[in-house]
Amino acid sequence: AIDISKLRDLSGYITLDVGYKNTGATKSAITFLDGELGILKYRGYPIEQIAEKSTFIEVAYLLIYGELPTASQLNEFQTLISRHTLVHEDMKKFFDGFPSGSHPMGQLSSLIGALAAFNPASLKPGLNADEINLEIIKLIAKMSTIVSWIYKKSLGHPFIYPQNKYDYVTNFLHMTFGQRTEEVELKPVVINAMNKLLILHADHEQNCSASTVRIVGSSDANLYASISAGISALWGPLHGGANQAVIEMLEKIKEDGGDTDKWIKKAKDKNDPFRLMGFGHRVYKNFDPRAKIIKKACDDILEEMGIDDEVLDIAKRLEEVALKDPYFVERKLYPNVDFYSGIIYRALGFPTEMFTVLFALGRLPGWIAQWKEMKENKEPIGRPRQVYVGATTRDYKDIKDR
Ligand code: ACO
Repeated sequence: AIDISKLRDLSGYITLDVGYKNTGATKSAITFLDGELGILKYRGYPIEQIAEKSTFIEVAYLLIYGELPTASQLNEFQTLISRHTLVHEDMKKFFDGFPSGSHPMGQLSSLIGALAAFNPASLKPGLNADEINLEIIKLIAKMSTIVSWIYKKSLGHPFIYPQNKYDYVTNFLHMTFGQRTEEVELKPVVINAMNKLLILHADHEQNCSASTVRIVGSSDANLYASISAGISALWGPLHGGANQAVIEMLEKIKEDGGDTDKWIKKAKDKNDPFRLMGFGHRVYKNFDPRAKIIKKACDDILEEMGIDDEVLDIAKRLEEVALKDPYFVERKLYPNVDFYSGIIYRALGFPTEMFTVLFALGRLPGWIAQWKEMKENKEPIGRPRQVYVGATTRDYKDIKDR
């Protein structure tokens, strides 16, 4: 039996799992994934069915509230979101403050953090469920306006205001592409593609950004601050930033003459830092089920839009070679969700630097669901331990003696 009075001594025993490769941080009822079998489900519904039949806003409801909405619940959710899409006019000054060419992800994380300052009610301690819900609705609504305006600002175009007559995705495309509305984004193929991409990115259990959102929120930080931190975590090229890195890699291979064998060789060379971007995953040791859906969508969309993109051919050749190569086979490295998503974003007309922002727009309901679940579970503040390997006690030396 453990002598409770000695527990202080036991605190020296900790589990060391750098990168949390095998450490669960929470119990969660949101997303299930089996990396060995390549299975992904949102609230129990297989991703294949959801991507085929649902809309992004319905998926947002499912992830956040746990059940598929009835027609009236969905209508109410959608209406509430439409009512909150306007952002405070003073927020527009932030856009003028960023130097031209500043990365959209840097802008997004600051603007979402700034929403807390514009919504002081969100900072009140002990918000009740209705008050929390209102902030959730506001965040979903305003994020699409902010993302569109970041894009508009990068072009030097005037901002386009949201319109309540459109559903969430159409409204987003309307604010983003403006005058191209009728000819581009209102086409069902474009709306469907956008819905599908957002759905496939909507949640992925305890990944780097979701864990960041939960751990920041566990200090009782407000929703906007927690999501802003998640956006920063997503930015890295080993996480959401990979979709931008994939297209940049494919472009480079194209410019280099399209010799995929040469680049596969580089990816295998341990003295070369190059990695095949969009390949490999911490959890999937089988085909990423999202990649399968996106690959098919990519073919369909490019065909329907009449686009012939050489970069897609290079991507397919890389995949074909890698899937037969013992290096990738032994390490179970398969294409992940980002391998094909960028090709679709490009076909829809988005510049490469916007890709990770689009990932963030899709991931938002997942982050919110993770934050809400963490609060409802009354989880304690996240605070990992360490194994100290630094200097033992040393005496302070005066600066002249160093
Ligand atoms: N190209 C070449 N080799 C790779 C790749 C790759 N894309 N990914 C992993 N490897 C190799 C590693 O060099 C390592 O080899 P070794 O055993 O000989 O040392 C082995 O496979 C295992 O790789 P780790 O980095 O240890 O695996 P980890 O689980 O830590 O990393 C990660 C997963 C970060 C996704 C990694 O596969 C990678 O860097 N991929 C490219 C970036 C990418 O596509 N990221 C997006 C992830 S999906 C998402 O966030 C939405």
